[in-house]
Amino acid sequence: MGMHTRITEMLEIEHPIVQGGMQWVGLAELASAVSNAGGLGILTGLTQPTPEDLIKEIERCRGMTDKPFGVNLTILPTIKPVPYEAYAQAIVDSGVKIVETAGRNPEPFLPLFKEAGITVIHKCTSIRHSLKAEKIGCDMVSVDGFECAGHPGEDDVTNMILLPIAARLLNIPFLASGGLGDGRGLAAALAMGADGINMGTRFMVTKEAPIHEKVKQRMVEASELDTSLIYRTLRNTARVFKNSIAEKVIEIESRSGETKFEDIQPLVQGAKGRDLFDSGDLDQGIWSAGMVVGLIDDIPTVQELISRIVTEAEGIIKERLVKAVSA
Ligand SMILES: Cc1cc2nc3c(=O)[nH]c(=O)nc-3n(C[C@H](O)[C@H](O)[C@H](O)COP(=O)(O)O)c2cc1C
Repeated sequence: MGMHTRITEMLEIEHPIVQGGMQWVGLAELASAVSNAGGLGILTGLTQPTPEDLIKEIERCRGMTDKPFGVNLTILPTIKPVPYEAYAQAIVDSGVKIVETAGRNPEPFLPLFKEAGITVIHKCTSIRHSLKAEKIGCDMVSVDGFECAGHPGEDDVTNMILLPIAARLLNIPFLASGGLGDGRGLAAALAMGADGINMGTRFMVTKEAPIHEKVKQRMVEASELDTSLIYRTLRNTARVFKNSIAEKVIEIESRSGETKFEDIQPLVQGAKGRDLFDSGDLDQGIWSAGMVVGLIDDIPTVQELISRIVTEAEGIIKERLVKAVSA
């Protein structure tokens, strides 16, 4: 058993499966479980309140796995200003060798990361940003389709289109991100030219994800229709789980006249999302979730999930696809 791609080689991992950064979810428990299962776990930098806390979390993760893991640095508009440089320096000082950047052009941080020998995976939602990432020296990209949880951008192009174009135009390896959750998805992503997959939502619904059981259970019950796009009017679209708060935000955004962030801020504060994950009160705030919730119907361990995805993908490639082309 085992799949070999440019990504397994460059990241020194067993399976071409990466767990993307997830605010409030990407703690050492989940990242270490993914790395221990042969994928690449990623700690979410900004989930830690300060760069010093991030250093401690990296140490904690090291205590839980001796396999490679990465750190996500998300550079997005935030309500409170964030000392990004200090977070980047904390990553370098901790000796982490893989960084996932997202949100904005990571160019200002590249000299620091490259000097430290860090492999940079930039997550982007368009072909033009992927090409730009390659040009400025990122080592690989995660191509995040419209299906994805979090910020899908404003182009609304799905992975069925993005991935083959990425395969035609990029020279660096890339991960398919968004809408992936099973072996069919992995096999399809590889067929479309990706070197592996990046998953967020699917990893939230595992035993090790550090969030309330009720959130996981609700996502098991959900269908592919249970996500909402909010902040469209602010051109900062986010795909979140469809709950009463997301519906309220959309209702405010649909009112005539320009939407002001102040009008929705009390509903969407990050702290409320974090509290929701702790309490299991599903209407306390909003949380990111992708259309792939429609494919999730159990709460396995990370090890079970990764083994299942790899075994299923290998079966499809070796049997179904081989049969399809043999006389
Ligand atoms: C709860 C949650 C929080 C997320 N937070 C972040 C984040 O802070 N930074 C980031 O770059 N991506 C974030 N993402 C996006 C994931 O890293 C990944 O790109 C996305 O989930 C892929 O789509 P999928 O959910 O369909 O697998 C988040 C996703 C989820 C589900």
